Amino acid sequence: MSDSRRIRIFDTTLRDGEQSPGASMNINEKLEIAQALAELGVDIIEAGFPIASPGDFEAVRQVAQAIRDTVVCGLARCNDQDIDRAWEALRHARHPRIHVFLATSAIHREFKLKMSKEEIIARAVAGVRRAVSYCDDVEFSPEDAARTELDFLCQVVEAAIDAGATTVNIPDTVGYATPAHIASVIRTLRERVPNIDRAVISIHCHNDLGLAVANSLAAIEAGAGQVECTINGIGERAGNCALEEVVMALRTRHDVYRCHTGIVTQRLVPTSRLVSNITGIQVQRNKAIVGRNAFAHEAGIHQDGMLKERTTYEIMRPEDVGLSRTDLVLGKHSGRAALADRASALGYHLTGEQLQTVFQRFKELCDKKKEIYDADIAALIEDELREVPEDWTFAGYELQAGSGRTPQVVLRLRHGDEVVERQVADGDGPIDAVFLAMEQITGMNVRCRDFQVHSVSMGKDAQAEVTVEIEYQGQPYRGRGVSTDSIEASARAFLNAINHAAASPGAVRRVSPYEPQAATNASQ
Ligand code: KIV
Ligand code: ZN
Repeated sequence: MSDSRRIRIFDTTLRDGEQSPGASMNINEKLEIAQALAELGVDIIEAGFPIASPGDFEAVRQVAQAIRDTVVCGLARCNDQDIDRAWEALRHARHPRIHVFLATSAIHREFKLKMSKEEIIARAVAGVRRAVSYCDDVEFSPEDAARTELDFLCQVVEAAIDAGATTVNIPDTVGYATPAHIASVIRTLRERVPNIDRAVISIHCHNDLGLAVANSLAAIEAGAGQVECTINGIGERAGNCALEEVVMALRTRHDVYRCHTGIVTQRLVPTSRLVSNITGIQVQRNKAIVGRNAFAHEAGIHQDGMLKERTTYEIMRPEDVGLSRTDLVLGKHSGRAALADRASALGYHLTGEQLQTVFQRFKELCDKKKEIYDADIAALIEDELREVPEDWTFAGYELQAGSGRTPQVVLRLRHGDEVVERQVADGDGPIDAVFLAMEQITGMNVRCRDFQVHSVSMGKDAQAEVTVEIEYQGQPYRGRGVSTDSIEASARAFLNAINHAAASPGAVRRVSPYEPQAATNASQ
């Protein structure tokens, strides 16, 4: 690939991505995603904004300690406290990067910062110098660069490079740019900033006009050497440039861009699934590269063309992004080895114990469902991998419900070796009744903030995947459950969220009168 330029992939799923409404992640979840990003082959992981909260600090610190072969980056505003805190979190990283930012556009200068252009330059230089005093790898971002006067942007960038910045990132913070505009910004910087060769130019686009990927590609074509992006394009408001899209565009249209990345593309779909399961943000079906329909051919004429020659209607091979071509895979005669094989083809590494549990659930599923698709298997595995140390597990329910009548539910939860049962005749519907019974048994008083049901695969017997977000003592917790019975899936999801909440440090719950140690097998 001698005539091919290597583009660095800077992943900010854990920082800008986490700024998506409802996407907050705990430290273990961040560590799991960081590990997956390292396996995906990203060059830089932006692990968080250490000054933002003790949780953010700790997440950056732990990611910096755990990830050894990828650059780990922490964000800081251009002030001493932020930068010192960022360094404190990053100091044990093998390859640390401090990313400092300061807004430069007239709107931000006048209304947010109330600073003159000279003051902005002085602050940017001071911030970069302080970061450089800690580590060699320093990135500077003039926030809202896309709306900054070009002459001033050139001055700020030159000053930041002189102060020691090794990467200068050009953010389109509000997703306002167009491809031609952003390309001309990058070209201008390359032409007018005398020391530009001493730094890598990076691009960071938001998706408010649906142009984040197009703008990032235009910037790369104009000479940017790093692209900032997130898995599934999650991020503030309409999100960021989607990593999987920009990477596959560069790869598929190498004839146009003449660029390559270090991404192991076969890990794109598993990483997308992981981020979606952890954040609870579902990927839309028709999403490019990782959406469920991205490689589905519905029209007969397309299917006919595909059978004759794949390339008639397919520009990428599903297996190159981590999807298998044969979707209908296993059934009740399949053994453990076949399941293990399928799991690893889907990108999961299961321990013997995990495989055993998943196999058990797979067999149960085979009794309910004739055809088991990849998505069913992935859903079972995700359920197993996402398990929290469970206070309570689901043990069954009976329900009487109908239009215009109050539902009656008998719910059973297991706690250690004991099963606790509770009957409730209340609620707006059967699912509400199950949730009320669960709150009574566990003694956890929560508010349900979000509730979503999806079918995992096709057909009337498809598994339902339910995700819920609850609020407990002011904090959000997510849960997920899968079953061919949508009420059971809802119960499992709600219980999973409750277990998450109960396991969180500082959770104070009222003691349930139904806990085994207080009263066993209480029913009413
Ligand atoms: O969008 C933005 O401007 C940012 C910066 C902090 C890089 O996320
Ligand atoms: Zn951003």
